Amino acid sequence: GEKGLKDYYKDYFDIGVALPTRNFSEAETSFFKKHFNSVTAENAMKIQPIQPVQNQYNFAPVDSLVAVTRRLNMKMRGHTLCWHNQVPDWFFKREDGSTIDKATLYDRLKTHIYTVAGRYKNDIYAWDVVNEVISDKKEEFYRPSKFYEIAGADYIDSAYTWAHEAAPDALLFYNDYNEIDSTKRSKIIQMIRGLQAKNIPVHGIGLQAHWALNEPSESQLEQTLKDFSALGLNIQITELDMSIYPKEHQSREWDAARDKNTLYTNDIANAQAEKYAMFFKLFRKYSKQISSVTFWNISDKHSWLDDFPVKNRKDYPLLFDKDLQPKKAYEAVIDF
Ligand code: XIL
Repeated sequence: GEKGLKDYYKDYFDIGVALPTRNFSEAETSFFKKHFNSVTAENAMKIQPIQPVQNQYNFAPVDSLVAVTRRLNMKMRGHTLCWHNQVPDWFFKREDGSTIDKATLYDRLKTHIYTVAGRYKNDIYAWDVVNEVISDKKEEFYRPSKFYEIAGADYIDSAYTWAHEAAPDALLFYNDYNEIDSTKRSKIIQMIRGLQAKNIPVHGIGLQAHWALNEPSESQLEQTLKDFSALGLNIQITELDMSIYPKEHQSREWDAARDKNTLYTNDIANAQAEKYAMFFKLFRKYSKQISSVTFWNISDKHSWLDDFPVKNRKDYPLLFDKDLQPKKAYEAVIDF
């Protein structure tokens, strides 16, 4: 049949997509098969969805997605074993409502990782073990999450060790966003070097790559890829999208009304295509290090950015339009 995105990139890296757990139409399934060779569950493997109640696991939706992925001959990334978001309250609490101690947290996290990573050890080839523990604030190293408040930073080492014990063949990643900020990037690199020095099994670095029309610049992105390459680890782009709104419009405090007249015009579509072409030019340049590029969501019909960080602001961040038709950005990315 006709070439899809993954075919254009077969000599460079895998092309992935983040999928929800619902039934897919035949048109969707053939679209996935054409363009992608890797899948990430958008939510289903996070702690809240997969273990909403202690020791009661909700595996069925994940099992279906694993089955679809296998049927389509695609690889699967696991996302994520340890994150401060989408984690249920029970995880940090005793029955009487008080906060658990470090030993109990270790126990719960170990059980969770053993159960989830163990169950899918023959299905998932790469795990985002720990997600987003580095702070965005200049003067702060770790994010002050519940995990960190209760257990300090040592649990990060243990999470990798447990994941490795449960799924010995899986590549283990550290995943984070705002990686184009040089201060945050230095901290991420410092943490990874620390893990490497302690012989903790960490094999890769995931760049979420939630980017915007005006950021990163070419030099900023190149510096980012250069800095991470120096770690000598596998690099994966794990959650790529490009908001049409500039970086300065990306905060929870931003008033959606100020963007209400922003339409997806030809000018924006062209600018987006040019920017996407630049991203992929650099990804190809660093393809010795980069083994996979995953888009966060399927098409502009629905993106998590429609509701984040600004509620109810339609965004157009992907390569395909609401009818799964290739946008100018798609044409630009395959034109090399
Ligand atoms: C997002 C999902 O896309 C949304 O559906 C959900 O409501 C919140 O999480 N960083 C991550 C992803 O690592 O797991 C997030 O996914 C987007 C930001």
